[in-house]
Amino acid sequence: MATVQFRKLQKANGPIARIRRRFGPWATFFRQFVKHPAMIGSVIPSSSMLVEAMLAPIDWSNTRLFVEYGPGVGTFTRPILTKMRSDAMLIAIDTNADFVRYLSADISDHRFRAVHGSAADVRAIIADHGFTQADYILSGLPFSTLPEGTGAAIMTETHAALRPGGSFLVYQYSRFVEKMLSPLFPTVTSDLEWLNIPPCRMFWATRENALAQAA
Ligand SMILES: C[S@@+](CC[C@H](N)C(=O)[O-])C[C@H]1O[C@@H](n2cnc3c(N)ncnc32)[C@H](O)[C@@H]1O
Repeated sequence: MATVQFRKLQKANGPIARIRRRFGPWATFFRQFVKHPAMIGSVIPSSSMLVEAMLAPIDWSNTRLFVEYGPGVGTFTRPILTKMRSDAMLIAIDTNADFVRYLSADISDHRFRAVHGSAADVRAIIADHGFTQADYILSGLPFSTLPEGTGAAIMTETHAALRPGGSFLVYQYSRFVEKMLSPLFPTVTSDLEWLNIPPCRMFWATRENALAQAA
């Protein structure tokens, strides 16, 4: 009996288990890329430098609802949960059921919900969780390869789902998304993160605030 338990412990800490733990999320991500290249849009997950640069401007103390589109294996999801208030909520939406199952099994946090669905239905999804508007929405979606019309529908829904003054944060390998953001959002700032494979464009688009809306 003791020998069986010792072997199990050896297996759990052995080299193969360590490699699986280290590369597990990457292998899951790559398998999904091979199955759905246009929907995933990238061969490997984002770098930690991209995650930190993208999340740097966020005002966490005033964030009650954060929504993430296309979380994949959770590269952004875990750092968001680390930074978020204890009474805030993170809703991650992905069309890929395998990613949603993976995240639901891997992340145990009362502030986190993984939803199998499309970003195009964000308002209905946040309403199901008792919210009318989000403070921030982060997108890892490959806008340039999404099916015809999907990107435009997501933009309109996202704008409507954000509170006045709320921001839509987008990371992309091209400038494609910029021309979709600027007609809807009065302020769009951008930057480039070189320390990512490939280097990645970052956009922070902010909705008009309540005073501007009333004027
Ligand atoms: C480039 S991956 C982003 C992965 C991860 N966020 C990262 O930074 O490594 C794009 C993700 O968007 C998801 N996706 C594609 N279309 C979607 C849609 N309409 N709504 C929600 N998720 C979608 C894909 O399933 C995939 O998980």
